[in-house]
Amino acid sequence: QLKKTDAVPLLMNWLLGQESIVCSDPTTVAAKLRKMVVGGAGKTVVISDFDYTLSRFANGSGERLSTTHGVFDDNVMRLKPELGQKFVDLKNKYYPIEFCPKLTMEEKIPHMEKWWGTSHSLIVNEKFSKHTIQDFVRQSRIVFKDGAEDFIQSLDAHNIPLVIFSAGIGNIIEYFLEQKLGAIPRNTHFISNMILFDEDEKACAFSEPLIHTFCKNSSVIQKEAPFFHEINGRVNVILLGDSMGDIHMDVGVERDGPTLKVGYYNGSLDDTAALQHYKEVYDIVLIHDPTLNVAQKIVDVIN
Ligand code: C5P
Repeated sequence: QLKKTDAVPLLMNWLLGQESIVCSDPTTVAAKLRKMVVGGAGKTVVISDFDYTLSRFANGSGERLSTTHGVFDDNVMRLKPELGQKFVDLKNKYYPIEFCPKLTMEEKIPHMEKWWGTSHSLIVNEKFSKHTIQDFVRQSRIVFKDGAEDFIQSLDAHNIPLVIFSAGIGNIIEYFLEQKLGAIPRNTHFISNMILFDEDEKACAFSEPLIHTFCKNSSVIQKEAPFFHEINGRVNVILLGDSMGDIHMDVGVERDGPTLKVGYYNGSLDDTAALQHYKEVYDIVLIHDPTLNVAQKIVDVIN
């Protein structure tokens, strides 16, 4: 008689046979997968980054696509070039700091706070309306990875909560999901920076605490969030991320089960040090993968 765990060696064989997938410690990955399969959907939660994890990094011609913050850069540039230039200048100044290999995380944090803080002030000072921001999203260059819609819907169908943990802008993700899926699925929850609107639906503030790349951990997770009871007891975590800042997104969830860390590597193949670092911190590294296929296969064996 076939057991559910028989699917694990098959998945492992498939993973190990793919050129663009690196699994540095197959024994550990197989052990985590077996525990997750035994626990089943009822013990599983997916914690995922959004920008360049659920969304695509580049289009078919290799051009970089937009992040949630990038929605403002592009649209404001078109409508109000002077203000748009301010967003672009901020990115040109701080993006290299975010990824600078010579600076420590502690050294980067004050710069990240300045970057996020300044760009959020520009958004609030301009009092963008909810309607305008929804329009910006409609015209944006945010694109789902192939299979992302089906992945989110299949999690919902199997009652597996999806926590989207993003240092981007949560409202932009919400509007994007509403536009692509028709509505936000019941299983989907957000830990992110939210634009707060006044009674005229104009941006008036951002939620606290500020979430930037290097504080995606228990320090910004509000345990009183209404969805927390839903993930209580979900001891097995599938974590999807694309940066070093994503690897601790699971630390707010108290439990003793495994976290299977799947990392999308969007960097250069020549940067062997960076790639090596991903191989050390992520269980499975997906190199330049524009799809959600691997995450879907993992969920399929658990269900
Ligand atoms: O970690 P996550 O992928 O959610 O982070 C969002 C990304 O948004 C950061 O990596 C940063 O490069 C980018 N960002 C931006 N404009 C800002 C602030 C952040 O493009 N004003």
